[in-house]
Amino acid sequence: MSEHAADKFDDVRASEYARQSRIALAGYEACHQLSACMLSAALGPIGTARILVVGAGGTAGEIVAAARLEAGWTFLGVDPSDSMLGFARAAIAENGLSERVELRHGDLTGVTPETGFDAAVMIGVLHHLPGDAAKRHLLDELAKRVREGAPLILAGNCGSYRDNPLFMEAWANRWRMHGAEPDDVRIKMNTILRGADPPPSEEAVARLLTDVGFEHPRRFFTSLFWSAWLSRRRREGLGDSRQAMRVP
Ligand SMILES: C[S@@+](CC[C@H](N)C(=O)[O-])C[C@H]1O[C@@H](n2cnc3c(N)ncnc32)[C@H](O)[C@@H]1O
Repeated sequence: MSEHAADKFDDVRASEYARQSRIALAGYEACHQLSACMLSAALGPIGTARILVVGAGGTAGEIVAAARLEAGWTFLGVDPSDSMLGFARAAIAENGLSERVELRHGDLTGVTPETGFDAAVMIGVLHHLPGDAAKRHLLDELAKRVREGAPLILAGNCGSYRDNPLFMEAWANRWRMHGAEPDDVRIKMNTILRGADPPPSEEAVARLLTDVGFEHPRRFFTSLFWSAWLSRRRREGLGDSRQAMRVP
């Protein structure tokens, strides 16, 4: 598996991403829409908010859904894949959102720490990073850029692909259902097995989040290996910030 997760998202992959991601994830749009709904519920009626979006390339679906729901929100999206960012930029322009969205090529090192974003969204990135250290590092860098108490939407695959052949078979059937020939399905599944490193369990995701100062991850969406959680950056000085959460 590649050292740099963004290397996989080259011109070819970026050009087919909008179609492939909707086959790979049953409920791709629903996940983005619910993420926006959860974020709005967690932030409450604060009017304006600055949202940090990590891995914002591709369809920009998470930004478009949130921007439609909340007219006062603005977004900074980062992504080290120029190709993916190009498609996101086009989607943002198509939806008339260019004034409210800045897309920056690169990773979080290009965003000043302690900038206190009101919330963050990271969808489909974590399982592309090899190993725990890289995952923890990215989440830690993210934590440094949001204010205390800020909600985080985190989504991606978790669970061991190899230990769950039933889900793998069902996943393969998604491509068959969309017209792929058996050989193509086999190639696709082998690429998935080689190319990703999902956290082994939901507990492992919770541990990564807790390690870097997020707490009480709450799952709100699941589709085969994929899940989405709402978590919140811990408020220092408060023993348990559950009372501060607006999440029911
Ligand atoms: C599967 S795509 C998800 C795109 C989008 N968030 C969505 O929901 O469709 C993963 C994206 O994460 C980006 N990425 C990989 N490593 C990253 C990192 N360290 N920081 C930010 N983005 C990264 C990739 O370049 C790619 O565009």
